[in-house]
Amino acid sequence: MQEMRLFYTPVWRTNLAADTPDWPAQRAAMLARIEVLEVAAQGVERTNFDGWQSDDDLYRHAEFGWLIGRIMALANQVAPEFSPRGVFDDGLLWANVNRRGHFNALHTHPDAVLSGCVYLKIDHADQGLIQFLDAREGSPTSHWRCYTKLGASTPLMEQAVSITPVEGDILFFPGWLRHWVTPNQTDEARVSVAFNIRMN
Ligand SMILES: [Fe+2]
Repeated sequence: MQEMRLFYTPVWRTNLAADTPDWPAQRAAMLARIEVLEVAAQGVERTNFDGWQSDDDLYRHAEFGWLIGRIMALANQVAPEFSPRGVFDDGLLWANVNRRGHFNALHTHPDAVLSGCVYLKIDHADQGLIQFLDAREGSPTSHWRCYTKLGASTPLMEQAVSITPVEGDILFFPGWLRHWVTPNQTDEARVSVAFNIRMN
């Protein structure tokens, strides 16, 4: 029997540190730039609760040039899933710094087809997970009694999926997929760079 997967929701993950020989130097340069920006600018308030979020023009800073290149190359590997003729060619990039108790509220990225995040500083799992919520209207999410009958969930029946990022991880997901970041429970800053990518 043929299974047709309708309206599937992909999330892609790889690790930049693993295949970037100068990752430690690149990472250090990006973190240093973010530190300078955080001292110099008040930051913006969007999804961040108390955490610091930069303007979305990090691409203006030379330290992020190589990262933009990597992001766009990876994005274009999955571009055919969004459009047979599509090429991602534009994007916005911003930094998030979450310290103890800081988190990012539930949100989507409505201005982008494809969004994602790169994790520059993650020392412990309890610095904050990213959790994605089921995007399907009328799914088991709204019929929780299913779980009491079925016991353990399956990918088809899942209502929320958490990912524990590690340093160097990069995630890509559709901009419409709801997600949030759990509170940082440590005294170490959690630093990530998020992005929106447009297909023009
Ligand atoms: Fe986000």
